[in-house]
Parts: sequence; C-alpha cells; structure tokens
Amino acid sequence: MILYINACVRKNSRTNELALDLLKKLGGEFTERKLDALNLKPHSCESLIYEGEQIAQGNLNDKCFEYAREFAAADTIVIAAPFWDFSFPALLKTYIENIYTIGIVCKYGAQGVMGLCKAKKLYYVVTSGGNFDPRFSFDYIKELCTTQFGIPNVELIKAENLDIDGADVQKILDEAKGKIII
Ligand SMILES: Cc1cc2nc3c(=O)[nH]c(=O)nc-3n(C[C@H](O)[C@H](O)[C@H](O)COP(=O)(O)O)c2cc1C
Repeated sequence: MILYINACVRKNSRTNELALDLLKKLGGEFTERKLDALNLKPHSCESLIYEGEQIAQGNLNDKCFEYAREFAAADTIVIAAPFWDFSFPALLKTYIENIYTIGIVCKYGAQGVMGLCKAKKLYYVVTSGGNFDPRFSFDYIKELCTTQFGIPNVELIKAENLDIDGADVQKILDEAKGKIII
C-alpha cells in the first residue's frame, strides 16, 4: 500500500502537483491522508494520559492509534509539505505526534530504539518560494524515519525558487518532475 500524507493546504498547491506526478510514476492505488481534513490535535495532558493507559494495557488497536498503525503498515510513503517558515506546516508535526507510538512505529529495547515500520522507502516532496534549506524539514524527517521508524531510504523531491520575481513556475515544476526517476 502506498500512503500519501498530504500536508498541503492551498488550492492548486504546487507541492501537491509535484507529489501527484511522483505518485503516478510509482503506479497503483494510493491512500491519501489530507492532513487539514483529519482534525488531528497536538498532544495534550489528557491525550498523553489516555494513550499511555492504552499502551500500558497493550491496547494498540485503540482508535487513537489508527494513523500510527496505517503508517507502520504502508509499503511506500509519500509526504508532501510546502516549505513554511524554514520548516513545514504545523499540521505535519501534529501528524507525527499522532503516529509516534512506541509499540507500533518503533520499540525501545536494550540497544535503544528499533524501527517497526514496514516501508522501505519514503519520499519527501517540497516546493519553496526561495532557496530550499533542508535542515529543519527534510533533514529532520530523514533522521526521524531512519533512526526511529526503521525506514532505510528517504529521498527528497524538490522544486525551489517558485516565488522569485519573474520565476517561470510551470517550467521549474516540469523540470523537477523530469528529475523523478523511480
Ligand atoms: C505560511 C508560509 C510560509 C512560507 N515560508 C517560506 C520560507 O520560509 N521560505 C521560502 O522559501 N518560502 C516560503 N513560503 C513560500 C512557499 O514555500 C512556496 O510558495 C511554496 O511553493 C508553496 O507551496 P504550495 O503551492 O504547495 O502551497 C511560505 C509560504 C507560506 C504560505
């Protein structure tokens, strides 16, 4: 199963356009999670207590873990997130808070953290108004996915400088699509 995590919010999102080109090349069906439609909430005192109780009881089938289970079971994952404020939309961090469940996406053992996710590959798709700096978005996602979730291969697909005066947006997007090789 291909899981498409869509953190784009704008109508005619360029990041979504680039991600859809990738998804077409990957072929087959995909399950899309449009994050602004999921009504996910950041962790609160109550949610942490509730989740902790479910984990302590071994109740990993609880509804609160549905997106964690889905993420862990996906064969390939595509994340689309525009470059916002040197990072990515808070929606994506909220999604990560919701899926990071010990016992589902990773486990903690004597040797430290071990990833439990099935996916062998995750693509991170981004577009940016100026130069794209990966440090607080892609680099973080790559570190998280490789060291915590056990997804060995994390690839960046990007189109940058889209909001520079005089930019030929469609040309930049088409060039970025041309570089996508599966
Ligand atoms: C809230 C917000 C924050 C942004 N922050 C940055 C930024 O820090 N650096 C940058 O180069 N572009 C920034 N941009 C421009 C977007 O990255 C760029 O327009 C991108 O292509 C938008 O993707 P979308 O069409 O998928 O929404 C920002 C745009 C918005 C709306």
